[in-house]
Amino acid sequence: MIRLDRLELTLPSQAGDVQILKGLDLEIGGGETVSVVGPSGSGKSSMMMIVGGLERPTAGTVRVAGHSLGEMSEDALARFRRENVGIVFQDFHLVPTMTALENVAIPLEFAGRKDAFDRAAESLEKVGLGHRLSHYPGQLSGGEQQRTALARAFATGPKILLADEPTGNLDGETGRQVIDLLFELCQTDGSTLMLITHDPALAERCDRRVQLIDGHITDDGRAQATPSKAAARKAG
Ligand SMILES: Nc1ncnc2c1ncn2[C@@H]1O[C@H](COP(=O)(O)OP(=O)(O)O)[C@@H](O)[C@H]1O
Ligand SMILES: [Mg+2]
Repeated sequence: MIRLDRLELTLPSQAGDVQILKGLDLEIGGGETVSVVGPSGSGKSSMMMIVGGLERPTAGTVRVAGHSLGEMSEDALARFRRENVGIVFQDFHLVPTMTALENVAIPLEFAGRKDAFDRAAESLEKVGLGHRLSHYPGQLSGGEQQRTALARAFATGPKILLADEPTGNLDGETGRQVIDLLFELCQTDGSTLMLITHDPALAERCDRRVQLIDGHITDDGRAQATPSKAAARKAG
């Protein structure tokens, strides 16, 4: 589902070019849940942006859901993101001037769904926010905002769900509820999950743990992969 080959990312900065990703090789199968761990600044978010088609690699190849992202035009990349990727960020990234319902309807409208608002309401009901449709983000708690972001990310039935420290701004119990929901939605939809986290217990809940240090993958988690979890999920 996701395959990186010798992936490199170099970005310009005032002090000269910064090499951020230094030749990543990684393969993630359909339906796998993979955590990405590593020190701050090691390149986790950058890797995720490339997988999501939001950033282009400097060298190497990135294949996601059958698409070779490096070769695609901006239009094609935008379509790829719409059709395949859901993303959740630490700070929710909701549009403050839109209601929860409108926020969740955005990707559905972009996808040309005539029933965007009905489906958005369904998606919000699934995350337990059927009673908050017309609330603005500022009127929602942190946990509710992240659940709204989950509803938006899953509304289009993405093959791949990317989450960048989704519990980073939430207290422990709220974070756990959001994560339970995230895993439940991935399982129901059979989505592949790439989850950046600093929380070892959370990383442990995934099939595999990929470790990134200073722009290198130092452990791709294959050795400690638990196929039983993936198999159990498929069977169940
Ligand atoms: N747009 C950018 N231009 C230059 N350097 C960047 C840019 N974005 C991130 N970096 C640098 O790349 C490195 C990796 O960043 P990031 O992928 O955000 O790491 P992580 O998510 O693991 O904390 C950091 O040193 C960061 O300062
Ligand atoms: Mg980051």
